[in-house]
Amino acid sequence: MGVRPLLLSTLLWAASTTAVTESTPYANHIFNSIHSSMRQWGSSLQHNGMSFFLATVPAGTQFYHGTSIAEAVNGTEWLAFEPEHAMVFARPHHPPPSTGSEDDKKDLRRRDLETEGEELEAGWLHTYNAAKDLRLLYVDGMAAGKTSNGTLDLEDRILFRDSLPDGAMMGERERANMFCRMAREEWDDRLDGLLRMEAGFEVILCDFARDLHEVRVTQTKPSTPFAGPGGGKKKGGGPGDGGLWFKAIAARYDGIGGNRVILNYDNFVSAYTYGLDLFHSANETFTLPRLKQFSAQELDPIKEGLSELVLKHEAKEALFNWQTITDMVVERYAREIRYLASGQASTVEQLHAEIDLALGPFIDYGDRDGQQEVDRCSMQFIPGGHLGDGIAATAVHSVTRSICSTMVEAWQETDYKTAIGLFQDLMEYLSWTTWKQCSGCGDHEICVVPIWPMGTVEDYNKPQCRDASHPSSEGQRYWGGGPGGPGGPGGPGGPRPPSSSLSSGWIQGLISFLRSFFGAALGMHF
Ligand SMILES: *[C@@H]1O[C@H](CO)[C@@H](O)[C@H](O)[C@H]1NC(C)=O
Ligand SMILES: *[C@@H]1O[C@H](CO)[C@@H](O)[C@H](O)[C@H]1NC(C)=O
Ligand SMILES: *[C@@H]1O[C@H](CO)[C@@H](O)[C@H](O)[C@H]1NC(C)=O
Repeated sequence: MGVRPLLLSTLLWAASTTAVTESTPYANHIFNSIHSSMRQWGSSLQHNGMSFFLATVPAGTQFYHGTSIAEAVNGTEWLAFEPEHAMVFARPHHPPPSTGSEDDKKDLRRRDLETEGEELEAGWLHTYNAAKDLRLLYVDGMAAGKTSNGTLDLEDRILFRDSLPDGAMMGERERANMFCRMAREEWDDRLDGLLRMEAGFEVILCDFARDLHEVRVTQTKPSTPFAGPGGGKKKGGGPGDGGLWFKAIAARYDGIGGNRVILNYDNFVSAYTYGLDLFHSANETFTLPRLKQFSAQELDPIKEGLSELVLKHEAKEALFNWQTITDMVVERYAREIRYLASGQASTVEQLHAEIDLALGPFIDYGDRDGQQEVDRCSMQFIPGGHLGDGIAATAVHSVTRSICSTMVEAWQETDYKTAIGLFQDLMEYLSWTTWKQCSGCGDHEICVVPIWPMGTVEDYNKPQCRDASHPSSEGQRYWGGGPGGPGGPGGPGGPRPPSSSLSSGWIQGLISFLRSFFGAALGMHF
């Protein structure tokens, strides 16, 4: 099949050859933040969240809280959206090994009974529902992952302004108290809690008694594998039980579902828009964005942006759900672009024919105008009247422009290798997490990706279907620690994390807890 000669203006040529490099700074990352928000899959891969969103959770939404006590909680505590997630904490309280300092004790997450030697025999699962529409601040990425790899950068540096005690990477109780104090004292009570993701989405809710109705409190199975380590409890239980937890997480890969969380995409704060280089320090290059390289002063504008967002906006004001637009773009182009980059269309003619089909709807064959063709193509998914100058609109449009310009440029390119290369560059630029999704997992398999504290470097680079009962693989631990043993953050040889002074006793305790928990349930290695 012959290829129609192209009548492209020199203007278009100039514009299109620089499509990717001249797009709005970080447009690809902002696009991906919107696309991955409230999704376990993309947020696990792009785990260093750089954006704050206002979120609302409708009244009546069910939540779960796992603990060692049966009485309803009054005050600030954690809530999970999925009961399987809360079950991890519905177990008798056994203080982990600690160095005994006050800070260590304060760091014990989700434990109501402090080290008084009390060991209740039962675990309890509390079920609540929201008594009103909850107003939350959502930190994207895997912001509840207690790692030194950047998952905490945005909250610890911007939200908490470096004021967590030194080395308090695990200082969850402090984060909770600090957040609720800020909400009350600085933000006129305009927020009810903080929403983040780890292995599941969770909320730190400031006032349980005010904002929740208790549905029921049930005692959990004493020998459940969720019961945690030690304490004379029989470990084990069927591996299938643990597998269920992973299945429950994987069920939310593509979204929390049920409209349980509605984000404001019209107004949000993203570190990507403050003119900072998030991928380099003086002597390092990061594969995922970091904030550790900046002075507190350099980050002040983002802090101001956050305060302004909270004080002047509400989750409910949003008119438009930009995530649905990113979905249309990704679903339309993800396979197309990967196909074009793959070399499966093996001649330049085949490649051009494929592009011809994709661009056809945007061409007026009676009046060829390359620039207009790119414009029309890049506006396809953008609703009329919505292309304002908001962050989302600008980023989404910039990304669709990169896609359409690349198509036009490749269409004009007569060298096969160069044309394929354009799509390969585009894929690298877009970095869509959907390209890493497994295909064809069985009913009892999940597509395994590192979710703190689990996973290997290989799981990150090439996620694969694995049996839900045995999702772990051998290899280098993604979050640190080599094969065959826990290294813990800041292990020998590695760069020291900012929190390297953190008590290694506590870390070891946590790791041994997790190892015991996952090890018993799943045969995982830490
Ligand atoms: C919760 O605690 C507050 C403050 O101590 C108290 O005023 C309130 O009555 C308590 N609410 C419930 C439901 O126990
Ligand atoms: C980079 O420089 C900082 C500050 O001078 C230093 O603390 C750090 O160890 C260096 N990192 C590497 C990887 O060289
Ligand atoms: C995460 O941090 C740990 C500790 O510094 C390090 O060993 C590990 O390689 C890091 N992982 C990634 C993916 O950067």
